[in-house]
Amino acid sequence: MLMRRIAVLTSGGDAPGINPCIRASVRKALDMGMEVIGIQEGFDGLVRGEMIPLAARDVGGILARGGTFLRTARCPEFHDPKVQKKGIRELYESAIDGLIVIGGDGSLRGAHAIAQHGFPAVGVPASIDNDIWGTDMSIGVDTAVNTTMEAVDKLRDTASSHQRAFLVETMGRNCGYLAISTGVVCGAEMILIPEKETKLEEITRHVDDAYARGKSHCIILVAEGATLSVQEVEKYLNDHETGFETRVTILGHVPRGGSPSAFDRMLATRLGMEATQVLLDGGTDVMIGLSGRDLVTIPLSEVTSKSRKPNMDLYEMAETLAK
Ligand code: ADP
Ligand code: F6P
Repeated sequence: MLMRRIAVLTSGGDAPGINPCIRASVRKALDMGMEVIGIQEGFDGLVRGEMIPLAARDVGGILARGGTFLRTARCPEFHDPKVQKKGIRELYESAIDGLIVIGGDGSLRGAHAIAQHGFPAVGVPASIDNDIWGTDMSIGVDTAVNTTMEAVDKLRDTASSHQRAFLVETMGRNCGYLAISTGVVCGAEMILIPEKETKLEEITRHVDDAYARGKSHCIILVAEGATLSVQEVEKYLNDHETGFETRVTILGHVPRGGSPSAFDRMLATRLGMEATQVLLDGGTDVMIGLSGRDLVTIPLSEVTSKSRKPNMDLYEMAETLAK
């Protein structure tokens, strides 16, 4: 199919680097002689026909900005094939020939559904969770790890001064990637993740041991999907004499914001340009991912039927080093 006009849409949880990705796909398309339409507020905006033309100047000054200037949304109705078809009708009515969807695993399912209805769609992985199959890194992960690292470094200062244990909750949905990576680079005493069950007694033993070894603090990173909640662990630790008082910090959405790191800008730029090229070359129902140094094109059927698991060697590395 000849691509004269393509659209770009961002959906699901935002991630730092989505703006540079939009910029790259738009400017690449303009360079190839295509017109570009921005769809606002994800699949919700698509169904409502919320579209704006995007020229080179419209994507100027956004490289360094966090979030997504096209805005995003969750749209549960989009699971319904009838609603998907309504979205596709909006695309045809605006004479759009192909769609780029930038988002997490849910958004890529939405892109897959559109492609399965016969409309050309290409996905780009963007999610701080790093749980998307088919790419070593998703857009936003590097910035989120750096933001979390800075927060944990600061918490260690106050933890050491007061001789406290800190439970620091990170986002990540059902994936422990953020907690593990930050645990390694911050030298956490312990990491709790969904992929590994840890008992309350074991955590107490770790905190006790850290105190006995003369540590001035004990940092425990807790992924939001871990089998125990920070509140449960806090209560248990404070009910049992460990030497340290325990405090909880929930980082929540903080790592979702902020200016994208150099790594994320580079990744987003490469993925965005390639998504446009693949659409132009007739590709559809695929996601562009990073494998080592190279960009790869993976079928969305594969991406949406698997999920990327964190590297448990890194988890064990953090355990070994927490002396
Ligand atoms: P993320 O993309 O960050 O993983 P969600 O899982 O919330 O975020 O998905 C974002 C949106 O993608 C959903 O609100 C919905 O509109 C769409 N979506 C998710 N799963 C599907 C699916 N199975 N079929 C069609 N659309 C979906
Ligand atoms: O998928 C990204 C993510 O930030 C998850 O880590 C988290 O569980 C979820 O989105 C939070 O969703 P919301 O932005 O709707 O609160």
